Amino acid sequence: MNNLSRNKECKTQIFIPKVQLGYKMEATSATTFSIGSTASFGPKMNLNPQSKAWGVRFNPQNSLKSFSGLKTATGSSLLGKAQKQNQTSGKTFRPQASYKVAILGAAGGIGQPLALLIKMSPLVSALHLYDIANVKGVAADLSHCNTPSQTLDFTGASELGSCLKGVDVVVIPAGVPRKPGMTRDDLFNINANIVKNLVEAVADNCPDAFIHIISNPVNSTVPIAAEVLKKKGVYDPKKLFGVTTLDVVRANTFVAQKKNLRIIDVDVPVIGGHAGITILPLLSKTKPSVSFTDEEIQQLTVRIQNAGTEVVEAKAGAGSATLSMAYAAARFVESSLRALDGDSDVYECCFVESEITDLPFFASRVKLGKKGVEAVISSDLQGLSEYEQKALEALKPELKASIDKGIEFANKQTAAA
Ligand SMILES: NC(=O)c1ccc[n+]([C@@H]2O[C@H](COP(=O)([O-])OP(=O)(O)OC[C@H]3O[C@@H](n4cnc5c(N)ncnc54)[C@H](O)[C@@H]3O)[C@@H](O)[C@H]2O)c1
Repeated sequence: MNNLSRNKECKTQIFIPKVQLGYKMEATSATTFSIGSTASFGPKMNLNPQSKAWGVRFNPQNSLKSFSGLKTATGSSLLGKAQKQNQTSGKTFRPQASYKVAILGAAGGIGQPLALLIKMSPLVSALHLYDIANVKGVAADLSHCNTPSQTLDFTGASELGSCLKGVDVVVIPAGVPRKPGMTRDDLFNINANIVKNLVEAVADNCPDAFIHIISNPVNSTVPIAAEVLKKKGVYDPKKLFGVTTLDVVRANTFVAQKKNLRIIDVDVPVIGGHAGITILPLLSKTKPSVSFTDEEIQQLTVRIQNAGTEVVEAKAGAGSATLSMAYAAARFVESSLRALDGDSDVYECCFVESEITDLPFFASRVKLGKKGVEAVISSDLQGLSEYEQKALEALKPELKASIDKGIEFANKQTAAA
């Protein structure tokens, strides 16, 4: 297979033969990898935008130079700012782009593997790790990885501002996870305060950053974050995201398994919210097109909705999903960085302020751009199956209650202050 045909098939998973490198590759060269979804380019994509399967591509650091001038199958420039930087970078050890990412809650079950995945991204120049405990060791450990980004640790409220200054993307997995028998809503009392305090600091120090909220219950913590940002006068609804990527990752995995499909090809939009029945996989919109029996739809939908509980029970008290969540969160970070970097073909499902239903926040596919959400893909809600239409109506009261609970919490805090 030549390079061009491989590009067409694998989208951004570009294969570069070592002979193109222009200089000898050292056996010990740094390894980075592209953790973005495998976006496709061109007219087909524009007619039918979809969040794509996520491809991991390990990439010797020395091959960065060879990205210069590389075009996609349809001629669009692949790496934007990244590409320009590397045209001048020569053999120096630099990232392909210079975005700064902060993780708040970086020493936790999600934070640590997420930090590792982001440390491997060639789009990141600085990784700021913040936690109230144990973050020094995590940062020291990660800093020995010979990937381009610099790792810095911050701990305690007094260092939070420095952690956030100049950051492009802030990811928040701080808080407590579920134990068996708990719902995500049971976490509300602890995590609501944590998210509120952290987002206040984000508003004060990097109000233009993309904010990715992972801490549960996402259906409430995102509205809390929105209220905090509004009070601070810096709310940009296009840049506040509840991370629901794990629901898509799970849906893609389970559907590929059930239908014996190539996993990289499968894309199932998941809409609604991020808890129980508010998670609604749109199996009728699965790409590639595939048919399901009623029984399969019921079984897959329930499994996707309860997949978090599957992990909580298997871990038997030791927490909730961390590794798959880190993978999903890293995908969402990478997609955000690619959008910031000028890639005009980035789609992800996420929980955002939205007008596509009568609810103020809703998870759906969005097009990401340099300024955040460029478009909410409302067409996903057209032509739903009867099962999906009913499930959509059924989820609305619960999702509305969770959103209202978050807004009410934020307003009470302000009134008490
Ligand atoms: N969005 C999703 O799909 C999804 C999936 C899984 C888990 N989660 C949620 O992610 C959160 C974290 O899960 P985890 O398994 O990593 O938990 P964890 O307990 O392993 O880690 C949480 C980390 O947050 C830190 N922390 C607590 N308060 C903090 C504060 N004020 N500032 C900074 N850091 C603080 C803790 O010290 C800890 O290191 C939970 O709320 C969990 O429910 C979300």
